[in-house]
Amino acid sequence: MTDAPPRPTRSPRKIIVAIDGPAGAGKSTVARSLAWRFGLLNLETGAMYRAFALKALRANLPLDDSNALAGLASHTTIGLEAGEGDNRVLLDGDDVTGLIREPAVTEAASKVSVFPEIRAWMVRMQQQLGADGGVVMEGRDIGTVVFPNADVKIFLDAAAEVRGMRRFDQLGPRPCQQPEEVIRDLRARDERDRNRADSPLRPAADAVLLDSTHLTLEEVVRAAEDMITARISSSDRDALQQIDPSIAPSTREA
Ligand code: DC
Repeated sequence: MTDAPPRPTRSPRKIIVAIDGPAGAGKSTVARSLAWRFGLLNLETGAMYRAFALKALRANLPLDDSNALAGLASHTTIGLEAGEGDNRVLLDGDDVTGLIREPAVTEAASKVSVFPEIRAWMVRMQQQLGADGGVVMEGRDIGTVVFPNADVKIFLDAAAEVRGMRRFDQLGPRPCQQPEEVIRDLRARDERDRNRADSPLRPAADAVLLDSTHLTLEEVVRAAEDMITARISSSDRDALQQIDPSIAPSTREA
């Protein structure tokens, strides 16, 4: 009896989907839909930076003091409880999910996330969270730094005015800011995210760019779903081919 060919080490369905892009590009909507559609855990890494920023604000730390922030990080625990919907965010064991969307925290998260010590700590936690696969992880550096080998990488973008108006519409019937202020703040955060020295926001070389300036979010979701469907089918076929070489490989070019 001959030995059976080795099974693939990872289930083909345990994929990692990386979604990166600036604020308001529709990452959360897309990630949530993909998680629901494909049974993946949805991990929102921005929420982790936000939770840490909340702690720094509560401690009254200067947000430009990297040593003080690194010291604070050394006795901070951040938990992200992911289902197929929104994440529950725990800061030192307390549920802060409802607090981290405040404008002051949004601003602070963008500032604390420039420091390499903070980023290295976050990246380690995020890699642990996604280690078993079966996740869609969204952020700014998932395809470039956290999971450079992700199975599918999507970089979502849209014009700043369009992203700002989406954010404004999310503020509800009594918005605390005017649309111009929302767009101005978003541009300032974009600037910081794109120009920081450590892991600036940029598409991975092998990411698919989806610009939603002239698309509805439903259209963007559909495009992303198609990409994953294609990826899952081909990896399934490739995995089966390793087990049974008589099965035709998915895409082999002559
Ligand atoms: O996605 P978000 O708006 O909740 O992210 C809040 C801030 O966290 C954002 O200004 C940049 C930072 N961030 C980051 O630097 N890297 C990530 N992977 C996720 C977020």
